[in-house]
Amino acid sequence: MQKSKNTSYSLFFFLTSFIFCTNILGVNLEEHKYGLNVYKKGNCMGCHSWDGKGGGHGAAVSLRNTELTINDIINVIKCGRPGTGMPYFLKKAYKEEKCYDTTFEDYDEFNRPVNSQKFLSSKQIEAVSIFVREVLQNKKLDRNYCEYFYEKGSKACLNLKN
Ligand code: HEC
Repeated sequence: MQKSKNTSYSLFFFLTSFIFCTNILGVNLEEHKYGLNVYKKGNCMGCHSWDGKGGGHGAAVSLRNTELTINDIINVIKCGRPGTGMPYFLKKAYKEEKCYDTTFEDYDEFNRPVNSQKFLSSKQIEAVSIFVREVLQNKKLDRNYCEYFYEKGSKACLNLKN
């Protein structure tokens, strides 16, 4: 009897500290695995870099320093930003679905919205937006994230601290 009580106490302790560590002290990265995969599928790192700090091809802005709200992030990924290097990821954008209240006809050849190489579904766009918001925005780059992006023990992460 006593023994099983102890076991349930330690189980309780284990679970609360687990929840505490992943939710209060840091982000639960595992919850955002799908969003991370979309980040890779959409080749966001081609421009925003693997760490989200930007400065890659197309000199994209840092997603760690962005001040956008979740809705603005979703919108920018769906619609891109015409006239800049940020492509749109929703296939229907500017056609069946208006963006910034415009369609393709509203642009000339110089500022026409450019599509990304791979389109993403609304569900994927939402997931990668939550990933940007929860994992990158206002977060310091650390080894945890690096090993999450690459793999545990990856050489690329050796110089980073937690
Ligand atoms: C071909 C290069 C390219 C790719 C690929 C790309 N981006 Fe961008 N992105 C940019 C550029 C350039 C900007 C800055 C646009 C500007 O000047 O306003 C930007 C801006 C953004 C912004 C707005 C940030 C802010 O604070 O204004 C978000 C959010 C964003 N990108 C997310 C993503 C995500 C997520 C992906 C992958 C699904 C992605 N981008 C793929 C080039 C790219």
